[in-house]
Amino acid sequence: MLPLSTDKIRQAYLDFFASKDHTIIPGAPLVPENDPTVLFTTAGMHPLVPYLLGESHPGGKRIADCQRCVRTQDIDEVGDISHLTLFEMLGNWSLGDYFKEEAIQMSFEFLTEVLEIPKEKLAVTCFCGDDDAPKDEEAANYWKAVGIPEDRIGFLPKKDNWWGPAGQTGPCGPDTEMFYWIGKGDPHGNPEKNEDDWLEIWNDVFMQYNKKEEKDSKESKEEKDFVFEPLAQKNVDTGMGLERTAAVLQGVSNVYETDRMKPIMDRVLLFADIKDERNQRIIVDHIKASVFIIADGITPSNVDQGYVLRRLIRRAIRSARQLRIEHDGTFTPLIAEIVIEQYGHIYGNLKDKEKEIRDALSIEELQFSKTLKEGIKHFEKVVGEAATKIDGVTAFHLYDTYGFPLELTKEMAQERGLDVDEQGFNIAFKGHQEKSRAGAEQRFSGGLADQSTETTKLHTATHLLDAALRKVLGKHVFQKGSNITAERLRFDFSHGEKMTPEQIAQVEDLVNKAIEADFPISYHITDVKGAKEEDAIGVFDERYDNEVKVYVVGNDKMIFSKEICGGPHVARTGMIGSFKIKKEESSSAGVRRIKATISGGSDEVEVAQEHEE
Ligand code: SER
Repeated sequence: MLPLSTDKIRQAYLDFFASKDHTIIPGAPLVPENDPTVLFTTAGMHPLVPYLLGESHPGGKRIADCQRCVRTQDIDEVGDISHLTLFEMLGNWSLGDYFKEEAIQMSFEFLTEVLEIPKEKLAVTCFCGDDDAPKDEEAANYWKAVGIPEDRIGFLPKKDNWWGPAGQTGPCGPDTEMFYWIGKGDPHGNPEKNEDDWLEIWNDVFMQYNKKEEKDSKESKEEKDFVFEPLAQKNVDTGMGLERTAAVLQGVSNVYETDRMKPIMDRVLLFADIKDERNQRIIVDHIKASVFIIADGITPSNVDQGYVLRRLIRRAIRSARQLRIEHDGTFTPLIAEIVIEQYGHIYGNLKDKEKEIRDALSIEELQFSKTLKEGIKHFEKVVGEAATKIDGVTAFHLYDTYGFPLELTKEMAQERGLDVDEQGFNIAFKGHQEKSRAGAEQRFSGGLADQSTETTKLHTATHLLDAALRKVLGKHVFQKGSNITAERLRFDFSHGEKMTPEQIAQVEDLVNKAIEADFPISYHITDVKGAKEEDAIGVFDERYDNEVKVYVVGNDKMIFSKEICGGPHVARTGMIGSFKIKKEESSSAGVRRIKATISGGSDEVEVAQEHEE
């Protein structure tokens, strides 16, 4: 039977790659663990960066999964037919195993035999070549070999057909993208010729280069100071958009009409007085993303992920206002209810956190409604002072600070016989957008691939801290959360009361003693049951059902710590330097939080390797 529903497509993908010897791993949370450089998991490859850089994966060299992703770079496109803030990415990876030929064969087989897409409706693009790397004739030839005719193969430059490195340097390579015909009439051409007729559904990246700085290049680097060296471990990194694939298979014109999204659209419509598809879609997209983000542990705030969440909820409420939907604290929870109904059977955390999700949304909705009221007051004042026109900066201020969509300002101004300087608004809006985009890019490019020396050392220090806390406070201590930036570690753990100064000093001292002992660190691979039997601690139990890596810190005289973890870690504790607890505070009921720093460790570190018996 043709897998048509979203659930069936997801399952068919995982089953297909399992049948091709891939280990199916559970998706990671939306908030990356131990990666300070990005706010959200933006692609399936994200949680796999250490393995793409050579760390061994407990699941082997062939991996596949379905990863929930959040991308805020595309937020202004949301409301069109295909862009979503939260989407599910189906992905398969070769970690130094198969390469172009097999990846293309498997992609083609899945598309045409499992999804039964007629090959006439498919087109592909490959890299057209430049000074850094040749035209990817090899990939094109494999497409021809499976039966894609020459005129369905387009060749495009780096901007379209190249992926990575995620930071300034690191693994990257040409990609080949697969497209489905959405044009009118019979399929013709390819995305190089008639781009708008084709919708991208899948991307196979061939990570065959390492982008490196050329030696002796100066401080401020330009593109020409980098070279593309062939990589020793060639990887394949693929990503298929589940919602887009579901839309084309279900024969609907946009992702909001698919089986899992349509009921959410309908629910919004129930409350709306005005029909406006774009605003309806924005509400659906933003509340759905918010539900998933809250379920992964974030609450609205003014920093980092919490700020993105706040903006999503507020934008959704602005759109609700456009549709004349009441927003008195009950609207967003009612949309969340249907999101959970549609996705809770796949993402159990949505069901577990249903109450937190509803409460967080309701509080934010109420708070924002108050801000809107204040905005109206501000508007009245501005109107009183304006002669004929509300200037662009004021209109933007109303938008940015009080959440007034331009349309609302225009409508209210009109009622008073005033104009709004739209052009001025657009200039102010663009300036703001460029600033926030630059911020997002910086954040993103900062080092996805950059599992830097500092974060690796802090990551190992976190294991030492975890072990030391259990030794000083007792075995009730379990990790409740961890977040590492290049400057500090933050560790949340279960413990009912404030730690005494003596306990803090004891823990700090134990960690420093473990560092001074210069313990070696290595890992071995076992399964969750085996890891439990050997008393390894760890929070990854539900995420890795098969094989896990257990990192051991210690020597034959003393094992200091044993913890399930994906790595990487430093090879010896002496590389960490000295450890200092900066703060001990409450995180939530029954959970304490420690912030700590390290200093004076090695500038370059070796990473811990597998322990050979
Ligand atoms: N990392 C690639 C992408 O995001 C393939 O998944 O498109």
